[in-house]
Amino acid sequence: MEVVILPDAQTIAATAAGAIAELLHRRPDAVLGLATGSSPLALYDELVARHQAGQVSFARAKAFMLDEYVGLPADHPERYRNVIDRAFASRVDLAPDAVQGPDGLAADLPAACAAYDQAIRDAGGVDLQILGIGSDGHIAFNEPGSSLASRTRVKTLTTQTISDNARFFGGDAAAVPRHVLTQGLGTIMEARHLVLMATGRAKAEAVHHMVEGGVTAMWPGSLLQFHPHATVLLDDAAAARLQLAGYYRHTYANKPAWQGL
Ligand code: F6R
Repeated sequence: MEVVILPDAQTIAATAAGAIAELLHRRPDAVLGLATGSSPLALYDELVARHQAGQVSFARAKAFMLDEYVGLPADHPERYRNVIDRAFASRVDLAPDAVQGPDGLAADLPAACAAYDQAIRDAGGVDLQILGIGSDGHIAFNEPGSSLASRTRVKTLTTQTISDNARFFGGDAAAVPRHVLTQGLGTIMEARHLVLMATGRAKAEAVHHMVEGGVTAMWPGSLLQFHPHATVLLDDAAAARLQLAGYYRHTYANKPAWQGL
C-alpha cells in the first residue's frame, strides 16, 4: 500500500486525475471504477477540466459504479446512477451506455448482483478503481463485519452511515434508504489499481485502521493491505493518526519520477 499525504483536496484530486489520464493515454479503452459520495467530487471536476482542455478523452472507456441505493425511484436525484451522471459522466465524452451500476430497482436483487459481477468480468475487470472510505471504515457499502471475500450483494447500512449520508437527503436520516447493493470486497480487490481518497479529521480513525491496523472485517478498508497496487491519498487531517506519517512523506518526497502512482 502506498500512502501519499498531500496538502489539500485539490492536490489529491490532481494527483488521482494524473493517474487516470496516464492510464487512458496508455489504454484508451480502460475500465474505470467510479465511487460516489463527496470524496471524489474534486477529482471529477479535475477530470472534466482536463477533458475540456483536450487533455483526456473517455470516448472508448467503460465505467462501473461501486454501489447503489435499493428502491430509490429512477429519477431521484440521490440515486447513485443520477449522481454519477450529474457529477461526471454527462460532463465528459463517455458513451451513453458506457457506465453501468448495480440495479437498485431490480425485481430480483440477488440475480441483479450476480449479473453485475459477471458484467465486470466480461468487460475484462476494472483497471483503476476510485474509492472513498466511510467514517466506520466501510469501502463501497461493505460495512463492518462484511465478508472479506464478498461479491456484489445486498447490504444493510449502519446507523452511522445513515447519519453520515443524511446530508445528501436534506439532513433527514429517515429519507436515507436502509438497503444498498454494493460491489463486494472480493469484487473490489480484483481491480488492478485501487486509488482511495480521504480528507478531513472524521476519517482519521478509519484511515488509521485501514493502513496500520490488523486486517479485519471490523475495518473493511484494512483488506487493502493485501492488494498489490493500492494507493491511498490523504490530507493532513485524515492522516493525523498515522504512526508512520513521517516515513510516508519521506518515501513520496524521494519517489523516482518514472514510477508514477
Ligand atoms: C460511495 C461509496 C462510499 C463512500 C464513503 C465515503 O460510492 O462507495 O464508500 O466512498 O461513504 O463517503 P464520502 O466521500 O461522502 O465521505
